[in-house]
Amino acid sequence: MSETAGTHLLVDCDTGIDDSLALLYAVASSECDLVAVTCTAGNVDARQVAENTRAVLELAGRPDVEVAIGRETPLARALVTTPETHGSRGIGYAELPPATKPLSPRYGPDLIVEEARRRPGELTLVTLGPLTNVALAVLREPELPRLLRGLVIMGGSYRSPGNTAPTTEWNVNVDPESAKIVFEAFGPRQVDSRASTAEPTDSTHPTRPTALGLDVTERARMLPEHLAALAARAGCAPDGTRPDGTVNPIVRYLADALRFYMEFHSRYDGFYGAFIHDPLALATALDPTLVRTEPLTVDVELGGRLTTGETVTDWRRVWGRPPNVDVAVEADSTRFMARFIERVGDLAARR
Ligand code: RIB
Ligand code: CA
Repeated sequence: MSETAGTHLLVDCDTGIDDSLALLYAVASSECDLVAVTCTAGNVDARQVAENTRAVLELAGRPDVEVAIGRETPLARALVTTPETHGSRGIGYAELPPATKPLSPRYGPDLIVEEARRRPGELTLVTLGPLTNVALAVLREPELPRLLRGLVIMGGSYRSPGNTAPTTEWNVNVDPESAKIVFEAFGPRQVDSRASTAEPTDSTHPTRPTALGLDVTERARMLPEHLAALAARAGCAPDGTRPDGTVNPIVRYLADALRFYMEFHSRYDGFYGAFIHDPLALATALDPTLVRTEPLTVDVELGGRLTTGETVTDWRRVWGRPPNVDVAVEADSTRFMARFIERVGDLAARR
């Protein structure tokens, strides 16, 4: 994938706090054409995700963006949410006016397929939550990998500890069956078991997704000083208060949502800050130079007593199967964080 003047994004999310920061970053990025957003269950239930997604887009001044809801449970197991991480409503301590724009009448997986068919080779799909909607989309349209310009996934943990079980990352853990379907469908066609293990001549396979796992997203750490710098850029205090006593709504939202998220990280990860996984993935979809990737073969464990949901990664290429994922192994988190502060700070200044 290469950055283009106008990068046309479809976003699938489970809005949660870092998802909401990714949506703000997308709106704040002039090169981003945010085509539509689909909602999946994950951090909170799908209905709450859809409410949060529309409310955040309206906060950012983009009520025009189509928001559709998808499947409300994982493909083959009960939904588990994480109120302890994102709060019972998924946006921490923040309060937002109820969304005014109605949900799209389209079903999330159908929207993904229809938009990809309508604009073949143009759209990059970015997933920020469990892969349920994408799995259903590719089951409905097997050509989806070739209809999309690219797929960027926030999910998995390829050689780092998990954040949900010892070896599993949240998005894959919620719906491992869907992740397995997606990783198999978007890799090179498995012609047969004798498929060549030779790397395709091009450096990136036309349909191989880029996956940002915890290996790189846990380097994207938002600290109080980052929020203070963003607020200063917006002309207000870190809690959103302006010199005249009024409140900047975007900074106030960030302050209240991130305070909950930073308290969580302080308890579970030993630092008062927040891994902002999803904004890094979205920023990478707009600028692939933010990460360095390696083509690897990845499969998803479904039958492990302790490891179901693990993204098992063949680092030594012992399976002899062609690579199916471009796994991000390094990220320029400094450049990303500076860009996040600049862009979202300027967006807040305009609100
Ligand atoms: O593991 C991190 C991922 O799980 C992020 O997308 C976060 O929003 C949660 O969905
Ligand atoms: Ca998410």
